[in-house]
Amino acid sequence: MGTNPAMGMGALWSQERPPEEGQPTERSRWQAMARQLLTTVLFLSVLLGSCVLFVYIFWSCRPRVPLPSPLGEPSSLCLFVPSSELFPTDPCDTPVCRRLLEHYLKSGNISVAPCTDFFSFACGKAKGTLAEEIKRQLQRILESSGSWHPGSEEEKAFQFYSSCMDTDAIEAAGAGPLRQIIEELGGWQISGNWTSLDFNRTLRLLMSQYGHFPFFRAYLSPHPSPPHQPVIQIDQPEFDIPLGQELEQKNYAQILREYLSYLNCLGELLGGNPSKVQEHAYLSISITSQLSRFLRPPGQQRTQGKLFQMVTIEQLQEMAPAIDWLSCLQATFTPMSLSPSQLVVVHNLDYLQDMSKVLEKQLLEHRDFLQSHMIFGLVEALSPALNSKFQDARRLLNQKVRELTEQPPMPTRPRWMECVEQTDAAFKPTLAAMFVRETFSPSTQSAAMELFTAIKDALITHLRRLPWMDEETRKKAHDKVTQVQVTMGAPEWALKPALARQEYNDTHLRPSYLQSFLSSLRSRQARIIQSSFQPSPHHRWKVSPWEVKAHYSPSDHMVVFPAGLLQPPFFHPDYPRAVNFGAAGSIMVLELLRIFSHLLLPGFCLACDNRAILQCLEHHYAAFPLPNGTSFYGFRTLQEDVADMGGLAIALKAYNNRLSWHRGETTLPRLDLSPHQLFFLSYAQVMCREPSTQDSQDPHSPPSLRVHGPLSNTPAFARYFSCPYGTPLNPSRRCQLW
Ligand SMILES: *[C@@H]1O[C@H](CO)[C@@H](O)[C@H](O)[C@H]1NC(C)=O
Ligand SMILES: *[C@@H]1O[C@H](CO)[C@@H](O)[C@H](O)[C@H]1NC(C)=O
Ligand SMILES: *[C@@H]1O[C@H](CO)[C@@H](O)[C@H](O)[C@H]1NC(C)=O
Ligand SMILES: *[C@@H]1O[C@H](CO)[C@@H](O)[C@H](O)[C@H]1NC(C)=O
Ligand SMILES: *[C@@H]1O[C@H](CO)[C@@H](O)[C@H](O)[C@H]1NC(C)=O
Repeated sequence: MGTNPAMGMGALWSQERPPEEGQPTERSRWQAMARQLLTTVLFLSVLLGSCVLFVYIFWSCRPRVPLPSPLGEPSSLCLFVPSSELFPTDPCDTPVCRRLLEHYLKSGNISVAPCTDFFSFACGKAKGTLAEEIKRQLQRILESSGSWHPGSEEEKAFQFYSSCMDTDAIEAAGAGPLRQIIEELGGWQISGNWTSLDFNRTLRLLMSQYGHFPFFRAYLSPHPSPPHQPVIQIDQPEFDIPLGQELEQKNYAQILREYLSYLNCLGELLGGNPSKVQEHAYLSISITSQLSRFLRPPGQQRTQGKLFQMVTIEQLQEMAPAIDWLSCLQATFTPMSLSPSQLVVVHNLDYLQDMSKVLEKQLLEHRDFLQSHMIFGLVEALSPALNSKFQDARRLLNQKVRELTEQPPMPTRPRWMECVEQTDAAFKPTLAAMFVRETFSPSTQSAAMELFTAIKDALITHLRRLPWMDEETRKKAHDKVTQVQVTMGAPEWALKPALARQEYNDTHLRPSYLQSFLSSLRSRQARIIQSSFQPSPHHRWKVSPWEVKAHYSPSDHMVVFPAGLLQPPFFHPDYPRAVNFGAAGSIMVLELLRIFSHLLLPGFCLACDNRAILQCLEHHYAAFPLPNGTSFYGFRTLQEDVADMGGLAIALKAYNNRLSWHRGETTLPRLDLSPHQLFFLSYAQVMCREPSTQDSQDPHSPPSLRVHGPLSNTPAFARYFSCPYGTPLNPSRRCQLW
């Protein structure tokens, strides 16, 4: 996470204290008034307290009307109903609430007993994810018959999407548009005209016009050390098909065979003579597998990511002479103006040197094959924009390789989803602005901001009360939370779409989808280069507004809640507040805790008195069986478990605070849940996902534990659901962490 603990704390702390000096008479008068006010409030609250107690005794033990209980339990128990729920609640009977109700009924299995398995109660039938739902929303936007200015960026995005969806036209065009591109690159020996090879020219065109980098990657990104100016970076390539050494023992020959038959298929689709295709395909694979041997393995790559070298283009030319670096980089990064003395960042110099040797050898022995190799690579890279024959061949290869490398099969994705993703890649800022306009009104933004303030205040108040936290940690955590910046929903430019207006006048839509695709690709590359030289480039807000994950950026100490997260079923200004606090609210707490939760772990917080509590937490989590019958606990997830516990506890506190100041709450019709029960249900909803989708590197506990761990540790849960003592969600021991 890389949070910088020394981020100028302390200096700002003193600014937040009231000024020490000032008029003493004025101050003592205020103090006297405050004392008087306090006494009055105290008196009134004692009075109110006794009234509430009386009403509570009267209400809570009145006979309840037996309702068809969705909880699978007799509901005629004498429930503990706290003061806030003594007051009648109105059902929220708006379309927004009815859709939420439908969603709850569809994703949860309410015939499961909530005190035994609340995860199944809330998520038992959950299918799909919020991210998929958001893609469907983008699809609706792109398929709606809106009215837009002719020539506007919106019109281009719509046309791009419909051209992608027009599979009849794509099929009719066949391999024609692709053959034309191959001609422009100088042709190849397999089909069509064959002019003599100029290796450097083809490579330059591939990099600059087609965004394809067959032998290495080159991209613009901030310098690894301050002041992080944008700089050209050169790194090893990423090959889709694993042909590295580590696979040589197992299924390696079979993977090679599948890959070979894929390339054969591509060559034949492009009209090549089968025996010639076979020969070139074979050599192409041999080049890829030679280069694969020089790649650093992914893990090593990551740990050594900090190891980089600054070299001039001239030095690079000496070390890896097969490539005309200056002309290739200049063509790719125009309008930057490069000279031989230009410094670039090189991430794996050994690879570049070895790669250059392989190319030189090939250039001597098999010049023509190198051209075919580069074209095969381009055809692979362009296959999303080609007709169904190319796509089917690719899908078949991916499926076979996943089988051979023992990975679960990829679900097939509908065409619209591919097209939404391609339109997103091509027109991100436009699509972002349209999405925000459609789903995130200013009133939603201010409601979300209000929720965030309530959550943040509750957290700050709560930090003062944690008995186990030492003063220094408390102050650090307090400072971090009070000083954090927040972006709610979308960056400024997406909320003011006019700013993104002129981005696409160099994207030209053509009759052929492939040509439009390539035009948008060039336009995107130019945009990235342009924007990296602006003082506050758009891409600093790296999160798309439709993403469904909150982010924390340590460098500008900012939390970001994208509009995609502040959507039904997690948030809506007209929802019962219980839902917004339980779902969006707990997500907000989690993100705020992320800023400092590492401070609470053993090893960081030496003076904290929480060792016993963390041990308690281990036992607490270990007590829950997982769906596959094992129990799960690891130190790996401790930090996230601590945060999950806090997410629930603080969101609940904030909700209770809100209820005590603003009475009256709505509930969902037909669902016989009290506001607090609804709060817990919406909290659990955030965690709903199919357990099989858990990534083995995920630092979180599995979804069912993320629901049961915190809820069973919360006495209020057991109270509001009247869980019998000793049921899994009302255990005999709890850990006093938050
Ligand atoms: C819902 O839960 C009940 C009781 O555990 C179970 O029998 C039923 O199969 C579940 N329904 C679904 C759709 O999972
Ligand atoms: C080969 O080149 C000639 C002349 O440049 C051109 O007319 C012809 O269409 C090309 N053939 C193919 C298959 O592209
Ligand atoms: C590509 O350009 C570099 C640098 O000018 C040169 O050393 C190399 O031989 C060229 N490659 C070919 C195949 O012409
Ligand atoms: C795009 O529009 C801007 C402003 O209207 C203009 O300055 C720029 O030259 C245009 N670019 C192209 C490629 O037409
Ligand atoms: C059970 O599930 C957990 C988490 O999903 C996983 O880590 C563990 O390996 C599984 N155990 C078995 C025996 O499948």
